[in-house]
Amino acid sequence: MVITIDGPAGAGKSSVARKLAQRLGFHFLDTGAMYRTVTHLAMQRGLDLQDSAAVEGLASGIEIRLEHDRVWADGCDVSVSIRTPEVTRNIRFVADLANVRHVLNRKQRSLVVSNDYVTEGRDQGTEVFPDATCKIFLTASPEERARRRQRQLSASGQEVTVEQLLAEQNLRDDQDQSRDVGRLVAAADAITVITDGMDELQVVDHLEALVRGKLSRD
Ligand code: DC
Repeated sequence: MVITIDGPAGAGKSSVARKLAQRLGFHFLDTGAMYRTVTHLAMQRGLDLQDSAAVEGLASGIEIRLEHDRVWADGCDVSVSIRTPEVTRNIRFVADLANVRHVLNRKQRSLVVSNDYVTEGRDQGTEVFPDATCKIFLTASPEERARRRQRQLSASGQEVTVEQLLAEQNLRDDQDQSRDVGRLVAAADAITVITDGMDELQVVDHLEALVRGKLSRD
């Protein structure tokens, strides 16, 4: 069984999806971490990020393992290095490559065959798991997302203005919504949840109720 959670950057998908998976007793798949891993390794190896054959070769050849909150690429722990601002800025080149998306889509589908999963990303309900049991599109207003990000950064000692975060976020939204393949869009049969004014626990409670309701009806 697969539950998909898609939505824009900063909607709090990862932590919510992880907690929802725990409550349901499902595994959790953070597909953004896979795009981050390929981008990080391509940068480390000095590849041209727009050279689709080279990046595809890299993506098909690596073994990406996601365990709890750690990410391993060919046995190396890359959990921290895939989350740098440089990687975040460069992901769009890799995420725009249709052949790389096909490779990662295949890896995602092969991971979920033997277990129940909550998967999280941009294209899970549309491209990767069109037959998912339950699809959620999780979003919040741009201002709310930027404010949450600012609070997170502030808690780790980094002070950035909401205006700067909003500008970066708008750019990422635009990139995620305008790519030719795997673009960020709600699946026609997704339930959209707008989380403005809700805290994380309320969002997890709400999603759990939605999913359990759907499972009991099917
Ligand atoms: O969820 P995240 O911020 O870690 O994702 C990083 C980037 O990866 C995001 O800007 C777009 C890309 N991505 C994607 O294209 N498709 C996915 N299924 C997941 C992420």
